[in-house]
Amino acid sequence: MQLEKVVIGVPREIMPGENRVSAIPETVEKMITAGAEVLIEAGAGAGAFIDDAEYQAKGAEIIEDLQKLYSRANVILKVKEPRQHEKYGKHETELFSENSVVISFLHPAHSVNHEGLKIMAERNITGFTLDGIPRISRAQQMDSLTSMSTVAGYKAVIFAANHLGRFIPMMPTSFGIINPAQFLIVGTGVAGLQSIATAKRLGAKVKTLDIRPEANEQARSLGAENIEFDVPQELAVGDGGYARRLPEEWYEKEKELLASHIEQSDAVILTALVPGEVAPKIVDENMVSKMKKGSVIVDIAVDQGGNCTLTRCGEEYKHEGITISGIMNVPATLPIDATNMFAKSTYNFFAYIIENGAVKTDTTDEIVESTLVTHNGKIVHHGTLMAMGMEE
Ligand code: NAI
Repeated sequence: MQLEKVVIGVPREIMPGENRVSAIPETVEKMITAGAEVLIEAGAGAGAFIDDAEYQAKGAEIIEDLQKLYSRANVILKVKEPRQHEKYGKHETELFSENSVVISFLHPAHSVNHEGLKIMAERNITGFTLDGIPRISRAQQMDSLTSMSTVAGYKAVIFAANHLGRFIPMMPTSFGIINPAQFLIVGTGVAGLQSIATAKRLGAKVKTLDIRPEANEQARSLGAENIEFDVPQELAVGDGGYARRLPEEWYEKEKELLASHIEQSDAVILTALVPGEVAPKIVDENMVSKMKKGSVIVDIAVDQGGNCTLTRCGEEYKHEGITISGIMNVPATLPIDATNMFAKSTYNFFAYIIENGAVKTDTTDEIVESTLVTHNGKIVHHGTLMAMGMEE
């Protein structure tokens, strides 16, 4: 990798509660060794317990004034999508330099980000979104979405444990045996599998339901008991082995099937997702009302609207004695490991797309095609254009 004349800017994240940062001293050192200058906003690593001095020791320059950082940087590495910067009274997309390259989770299909993307296009900023990285073998080392789902799946179980009014493992006590808690995990993709592993380590009994046979097999291999749901494969699995949106009558059948299992569960972890779509609603008020008091639902599909009709975005609250957690941005609650994984995968992505000091924009490359959002003054990302109603 040749990074002469590349000036990389690492800002402090401004989303409330966001503790991650896009670079760690190890990745800064690699970029500097390859010839780049690295500018870090003062205090950028504080939420992840990385001091400015640790970046400085690897050769980075610490900059107090963010506007100076953005005016010098031609590549910006960020964690979360750009938003209004209260301190400077401008949207972050207006602070970036014209013609610069921005690599971040841009969540470009989400309507709240469309205005920012238009500004990026107008200012000729080349934007790559990390949530577009395809789940293919050669992109595994760049896949921040997968590593962040691992964090979310783990932390969902920890949230559940925290709210549960009972022990999770089987406990022999002098007052008799306490039975293990029953967990139900719906959706056993990356996040759900990590939830199974974590719940099993805590001693829970675990049941799972997914619509993809491959996901069910992986759940079984981790010691979970699958709930059989006989949805036809051609309806459930689409291109590349990803889940598909089911016809509405199948969601009704799924709810009927899930109802009694939910009633028997102490904790329900919801992670069901169809890529690029709002999350399917598979748990409703009637089903929740039958749960035991003191039990918990953790709905980590909340960023896509949630799997439970009672989930409130960003909130944890009690409904008839049952805790419903809709905490958003779960990875930010585990900032040390989440930052480590995020910074390494972002570095790997950057190392892949940079060639002779310029970024690759050839969309015949699957990784570029699915991550490049703005380029040459335009929004070029298919999923984004569809979400904006500008393409079929
Ligand atoms: P994934 O695509 O690997 O897994 C989703 C699983 O849901 C798949 O196995 C799919 O087959 C399954 N599924 C789809 N429809 C279903 C249905 N009707 N019933 C049962 N299962 C169904 O996705 P991943 O990476 O595990 O993410 C899961 C969720 O967690 C997503 O909504 C994601 O946005 C969220 N997440 C949330 C974070 C947060 O901060 N709150 C951070 C990371 C992930």
